[in-house]
Amino acid sequence: LGAPLIDTHGRVHRDLRISLTDRCSLRCTYCMPEQGNEWLARTSILTLDEIETVARVAAADGITTFRLTGGEPLLRTDIVEVVRRLAALTDADGRPVEIAMTTNGIRLRELLPALVDAGLNRLNISIDTLRRDRFRDLTRRDRLDDVLDGIAAAAASPLRPLKLNAVAMRGVNDDELVDLVEFAVAHGAQMRFIEQMPLDAGHTWDRSSMVTQDEILARLAERWALTPVPGRGGAPAARWTLDGGPDVVGVIASVTAPFCGDCDRLRLTADGQLRNCLFSTTEYDLLPLLRGDADLPTAIDGMLRSCVRGKLPGHAINDPSFLQPARGMNAIGG
Ligand code: GTP
Ligand code: 5AD
Ligand code: SF4
Repeated sequence: LGAPLIDTHGRVHRDLRISLTDRCSLRCTYCMPEQGNEWLARTSILTLDEIETVARVAAADGITTFRLTGGEPLLRTDIVEVVRRLAALTDADGRPVEIAMTTNGIRLRELLPALVDAGLNRLNISIDTLRRDRFRDLTRRDRLDDVLDGIAAAAASPLRPLKLNAVAMRGVNDDELVDLVEFAVAHGAQMRFIEQMPLDAGHTWDRSSMVTQDEILARLAERWALTPVPGRGGAPAARWTLDGGPDVVGVIASVTAPFCGDCDRLRLTADGQLRNCLFSTTEYDLLPLLRGDADLPTAIDGMLRSCVRGKLPGHAINDPSFLQPARGMNAIGG
């Protein structure tokens, strides 16, 4: 306990993404079917105390950033308390850990003051389209105004950098990329476009509807001179400046330019399974430990190390033999 989490390929793990629920207030077509998925059993969802227990060990083992995801993390009724408990942890060097969240923005305005007070440091908000009819078709909910309201609240908050995420999709929003960047810049935020990954519950992904990094850059280059920013600063996005100015746009090219060689992430699902990759088919079950009579810090540390030891060099999306993981994105946490 207390040694860094280094895998067999030399990657040091510093980022734990914690999915707080598999439920969501939207039904994005690329993520979930209309009726939702079969939800995780309520009794298997980690409690506030259980999440804190796992996070404390992870922080001692070198995790410095905790990212709260879902489904939609703001649906957790104890979300403010989760942030408060995790924000009180210190990393292996005795420094406060960083708490980040990825949200769809709904209910963000009302919750943001309490989240900031509880110690939230950073926000990424998903917004795939700025057009009301498209938003309704894509998310199957007429809630664009709620999302825009959440983004406006985040822009007015002290949380920086603020990042906006859009999955780029052919024939859906690929004519809106410039508009989205301008919207982000107007909000003091960084726009990031994401290549769609094969992680939807319906297994509907196909390579031809994915908009690639090259296509995204070609669209943006019609409007701005793009200059690459060196390094990714630990994040999955490669970045470019716009006309040499202070604003940047990011592209998360998980499919055409995988960044697995730099991966520093582990994942914890809402039902207590550790995963070493978005695409892993093995999970490391913490529930029996958390709910049994094990010596918890030692047992959790052991499970974190098993999980890291089992990590493959990268995903196999581009191999003909690729198999999608059984869980959908909403139950992995993105
Ligand atoms: P930052 O650290 O702020 O850059 O956050 P992030 O980009 O890691 O997190 P976010 O939740 O905003 O995710 C944006 C997109 O990146 C989503 O599509 C995630 O599924 C994807 N993503 C996040 N981490 C990984 C990863 O380790 N591997 C891959 N392939 N995709 C990832
Ligand atoms: N491929 C890429 N990104 C996805 N997201 C959800 N499903 C996918 C997918 N199949 C994104 C969401 C959100 C982030 C957490 O993950 O749009 O921005
Ligand atoms: Fe890490 Fe897996 Fe994502 Fe590659 S695909 S960056 S190994 S989580």
